[in-house]
Amino acid sequence: MTIRILQFGTTGQVGRELLRQAPQHDVAITALSRAEADLADPELCARLVFAHKPDLVIIAAAYTAVDQAEGELELAYEINAETPTAIAGICGAERALVNFSTDYVFDGEKGSPYLEDDAPHPLNVYGDTKRMGERMMLSAAPRGLVVRTSWVVSAHGKNFVKTMLRLGAEGQPLRVVDDQFGRPTSAADLAAFVLGQAGRLATAKVGDPAYGRVHFANAGETSWRGLAQAVLDLAMGDAAPRVEPIATADRPSPARRPLRGTLDTSKLERVFGVTPRPWQAAVADIVRELREAQVDAA
Ligand SMILES: NC(=O)c1ccc[n+]([C@@H]2O[C@H](COP(=O)([O-])OP(=O)(O)OC[C@H]3O[C@@H](n4cnc5c(N)ncnc54)[C@H](OP(=O)(O)O)[C@@H]3O)[C@@H](O)[C@H]2O)c1
Repeated sequence: MTIRILQFGTTGQVGRELLRQAPQHDVAITALSRAEADLADPELCARLVFAHKPDLVIIAAAYTAVDQAEGELELAYEINAETPTAIAGICGAERALVNFSTDYVFDGEKGSPYLEDDAPHPLNVYGDTKRMGERMMLSAAPRGLVVRTSWVVSAHGKNFVKTMLRLGAEGQPLRVVDDQFGRPTSAADLAAFVLGQAGRLATAKVGDPAYGRVHFANAGETSWRGLAQAVLDLAMGDAAPRVEPIATADRPSPARRPLRGTLDTSKLERVFGVTPRPWQAAVADIVRELREAQVDAA
């Protein structure tokens, strides 16, 4: 059976990967751009779900500007909490719903990887809007799944891997935070997971363990500096510059971030039988894709 998916968001890292990989799965995606479905308009988004009547809704758009959110609380809350909840209300028990959340719902103080049921305690506005969105969405959609993820990277859009490659190529001295730890996650791997579960999510009954919260992140843990160095080593080999470690306190930013929000993914393996590959392999694929795109463009 082909699963009919309504996807909000077409230009983000995860949104693009979902669309790119859709032909490899038995799904038919109708994707709505920001112009067609502004997530700052909960009623409109809910009406669109009602009109399309899909088997599964995927919210691949969000307010993701972590620092900017500190000054745009209301808009971030509308996009990350109100609208997913309005969509969930229309889905009810009839339609399945997937949304994404973040390791930034945690304060990073636990001392070991976070489980799905650990109490959230966000340090910033973005994390708080995501925490609210999770709770409100899941209480309105009994067939909802919140996929918490972390440090999403890809060959598209603006992200850390591309920024490091640009700075490395420009020969700029690189100083990157070395006391924040997490699990880098490939948008491609995340999209493959969601599309691989579309059939189950669209057909399972209320109460199935596939619904609720699950963590998805590539395996292993590193700091931002460790990720930066790995990216440059992959791209430049022996010519890669050394990335200098700095402390979070050396680079003040409007939003506080958890020092170790590392996600535990044992539920992912238990409930879905999925074991994410190491982050190094995922990042190597992204660097390769970017290099091939450069060769094609030359
Ligand atoms: N990136 C990370 O490191 C990270 C970490 C943990 C969790 N997550 C979560 O993972 C999910 C996907 O993230 P991502 O990295 O793919 O995001 P992204 O690359 O930052 O893209 C965000 C997407 O949301 C769209 N958007 C923003 N405001 C909108 C609005 N008012 N109406 C409609 N669309 C709007 C953007 O459209 P425009 O292109 O038009 O701006 C873009 O398509 C999000 O829920 C995010 O919170 C991300």
